[in-house]
Amino acid sequence: MTAQEIRKKYLEFFEAKGHKILPRASLVPQDDPTTLFTGSGMQPLVPYLLGEKHPDGKRLVDSQTCFRAEDMDEVGDNRHTTFFEMLGNWSLGDYYKSEQLPWFWEFLTDAVSLNPKKLYVTCFIGDKETGVPKDTESAEIWKKLFAASGLEAKEVEIGSNANGYAKGMRSGRIFYYDASKNWWSREGPPVNMREGEPGGPDSEVFYDFETPHDQKFGKHCHPNCDCGRFGEIGNSVFMAYKKTSKGFEPLPAPNVDFGGGLERIAAAVNDDPDMFKISLIKPIISGLEGLSGKDYQQHQTSMRVIADHLRAATFLAVDGVAPSNKAQGYVLRRLLRRAIRYAFELGIEQDLCQQVVPTITSLYAPNFPEVNQQKNEVVELFMREEKIFRQTLRAGVRQFFKLAEQKKQLTGADVFKLYDTYGFPVELSLEEAYLQKVTVSKEWQGQFKDLMAKQRHRSQTASVGMFKGGLADHSQQVVKYHTATHLMYRALKQVLGDHVVQRGSNITAERTRFDFSHSQKVTAEQIKQVEDIVNQKIAEDLPVTWKEEKTPEALKTASGAFGDKYGNKVKVYTIGDPKKPFSREICGGPHVQHTGQIGQGGNGSTDSTGSPQAGSPQRKFKITKEEASSAGVRRIKAVLE
Ligand code: ALA
Repeated sequence: MTAQEIRKKYLEFFEAKGHKILPRASLVPQDDPTTLFTGSGMQPLVPYLLGEKHPDGKRLVDSQTCFRAEDMDEVGDNRHTTFFEMLGNWSLGDYYKSEQLPWFWEFLTDAVSLNPKKLYVTCFIGDKETGVPKDTESAEIWKKLFAASGLEAKEVEIGSNANGYAKGMRSGRIFYYDASKNWWSREGPPVNMREGEPGGPDSEVFYDFETPHDQKFGKHCHPNCDCGRFGEIGNSVFMAYKKTSKGFEPLPAPNVDFGGGLERIAAAVNDDPDMFKISLIKPIISGLEGLSGKDYQQHQTSMRVIADHLRAATFLAVDGVAPSNKAQGYVLRRLLRRAIRYAFELGIEQDLCQQVVPTITSLYAPNFPEVNQQKNEVVELFMREEKIFRQTLRAGVRQFFKLAEQKKQLTGADVFKLYDTYGFPVELSLEEAYLQKVTVSKEWQGQFKDLMAKQRHRSQTASVGMFKGGLADHSQQVVKYHTATHLMYRALKQVLGDHVVQRGSNITAERTRFDFSHSQKVTAEQIKQVEDIVNQKIAEDLPVTWKEEKTPEALKTASGAFGDKYGNKVKVYTIGDPKKPFSREICGGPHVQHTGQIGQGGNGSTDSTGSPQAGSPQRKFKITKEEASSAGVRRIKAVLE
């Protein structure tokens, strides 16, 4: 049975029991600023679990795509992923334990035909902190279900996870654990929960893959052991409590929040602990084998990382995330870079995204129409990102090997050089060092931070001569373009973000050319916004003034160009009211006196007060070209027309 069939069976199974099927929610939570990603099926339903009425009723079912960035470093073994689908069914104050547990049992043992002998369950042992008693009710239900399959289900009290390793299986079927294992909330066990957060005891089902226990995890194996013998395939949370200042209070009505990893259930149905062999992932792995000419068995870690990260990246992009340097965009960029870097290791030196992403979209398109709609845009977006990063990667890897040959231990200065000169991401240096068995000095982080702070200081710094250096001459036309360039620099920062730093300029009487740090294409919409801001500031006819300031003072609020150095004093040009300036730049000038002059036709002549002459034709600032200049640097050309 394929994973796709399992998903379909699950939805239909609960639909037949009166549940409404919900579409998946976005991986980027809507109206929830507390978290970057949707990490569990219940997350989009929190208000309803707290008592709000859901428009689709009290019984809901879905398959929710989830992303857990915190698991990124764990990916590589046979079962960890950052991206997965969580099958979920909910009772919003409707049915409870005596329906939920038998239904899930029926789904597992009947709908997808798992062997009951290979199933083990856990229940909450109860504690004083929450006042929630031992969950003998669930245990009694499980006992009956096992008995109906001819299995006697012995109960074993474990308590803490550490006790589990000490006690082992003891021929048990039903295991009681404490709140660290059998209590669920978005924030983990009761002590970690904030006031207002819902949670409750839970009961999990584990599938026994019957792989040998690995003692490196603990003396004896038990259901929650991390050796991989047992895979958790479903969690029924009895979400009946809310944390308050006075402790745990019952919610208006007790809920069921069930979540089961589709990929894990599919691995159990395959009776193979390698999750990367299920029908939703195997075609990606086969594609990687084809591209690299290498065998999965010998290159499991790399292929698993690439498969997981590109699956996650694809869904993030489908849900509107674009690679950038902050928030979700940063995580997406990290996923893509890690995937590309692991592909490089496998000898896949180009077109990774172009080759693999269509396989991923075709696996999901039949069930998630939005994937189909977005697939071309996603591939294009990733191709651009890959192209830029490949250049960096090649240069960085070469430099890394040079350094690694010269010394057995890298310092913070080495890591910084790779980062600063070659744009080689720090985490990749650390990973590369680990793979090449080169150590990194213990103090690297402190050294790196110091160098970074110095670099930041430098990069905020533009030489007095910078703009001047970029000017063809000091004719009126050039001066107008010069001031327009300051307006544009500020507008770019407003529209694209503060990471935009000037990398160079070249200004003639016909146009301005401006290079700045930004690693994606500037969209047509963003270009329009920048143009509008500049034209607005021209129309406002703001005063342009300058003052000499001490360099450290100036650097607090003025921007400049990357890589420039200053003396003790600098000239700062301000556009707008100096108390609330639109722009402040360290710059040698010259500039117009009023921004309105930029919009003036002809030679931009002014009357005796410096104001534009009435009746001269207005000129508009327009961006005529936007292109990549080098890795992470964009180039814009603009005219006054
Ligand atoms: N919300 C529960 C979980 O994520 C079902 O495990």
